[in-house]
Amino acid sequence: MKKVLVLTGGGDCPGLNAVIRAVAKRARKEKTWEIYGSIEAFNGVLNEPQEIVRLTSSRTKGIHVKGGTILKTTNKSNPIKFPVTQKDGTVKFEDRSDELVKRLKGFDAVINIGGDGSQKISKVLFDKGIPIIGVPKTIDNDLSATDMTFGFQTAVQIASDAFDKLVTTAESHHRVMIMEVMGRDAGWIALHTAIAGGAEICLIPEIPYDINKLVKKIESRYKKGRGFVNIVIAEGAKPKEGSVTSSAGEKGSEHVRLGGVAYQLSKQLKDAGCRAEIRETVLGHVQRGGTPVAFDRILASLFGVKAMELAINGEFGKMVAYKNNSITYVSFEEATRQQNVVKKSSYLVQAAKGLGITFGD
Ligand code: F6P
Repeated sequence: MKKVLVLTGGGDCPGLNAVIRAVAKRARKEKTWEIYGSIEAFNGVLNEPQEIVRLTSSRTKGIHVKGGTILKTTNKSNPIKFPVTQKDGTVKFEDRSDELVKRLKGFDAVINIGGDGSQKISKVLFDKGIPIIGVPKTIDNDLSATDMTFGFQTAVQIASDAFDKLVTTAESHHRVMIMEVMGRDAGWIALHTAIAGGAEICLIPEIPYDINKLVKKIESRYKKGRGFVNIVIAEGAKPKEGSVTSSAGEKGSEHVRLGGVAYQLSKQLKDAGCRAEIRETVLGHVQRGGTPVAFDRILASLFGVKAMELAINGEFGKMVAYKNNSITYVSFEEATRQQNVVKKSSYLVQAAKGLGITFGD
């Protein structure tokens, strides 16, 4: 029997379980593959004792509708920069990739479900001889090699539902409501939510904003007698003069933590003379939780089947992708070459402006 190992790395995202189930179902059809899962990304392989579980049908049955990942995940297990806590509490990073490669030798295929960071790891492992295939995931939709990542549509749906609720309370109280959404350096969630919800203002990392233009827009809305304004702001958004709100990540994490721009914007608006009452909502991890919408389940399932088919055919060193309405694959170089961010010149931004949405540029 051949052995395939599946793992999920980085932040979780609705649809991960649908990929795991699809890989397992497609592999079982062959009757020549055993399916295994590594707990908490590569930690399951590197830990002593190892945490590798057999993915039997009773483990994967019906999981496509569940959020999160049955295999657990972490963004602190990069084998190339593995965080090791020292006696004094500080963290040093070690390269454990060679050790990992040795431990992966018994597997005929490894399917790494993760974002750009995970796929960079996939590339290093592939170059060291591991038969590995990548599956892109992220609610941020910031991978340029695929037209969409699963999890994104669910995040937009959750954000839009929250936004609709804020509109009615903004209207009742004549308030300015600021809703902060995730997305890191990409404004996809914010922009899609702003269009779906009918926001007056949308602030994204790709278009730094002029606070005075925002105050002007708010004032004009109040003058027209429509005394409320709904703003969607991406966590990575920043003013023209200024920087993004962030804090150091946890020990061992490679990322700074974003979050809090809603409060920063609220203060900036008041300082710039905005007289309206303002309230802030930071949506946070709600956007990553719960049941994936149908689109994400389908995309995740197709990715899982495709990844396993690549493994069956011995085509490694690839990441599956969704391009021009079909499921295909790209090399790891292509997968990680460029971030997918919103282009100011895109029709999406132009259309949003056509709908009266202000970006503050
Ligand atoms: O990349 C997905 C994402 O949800 C980002 O939108 C967000 O900035 C980050 O992860 C949050 O990470 P954590 O779960 O580590 O706080």
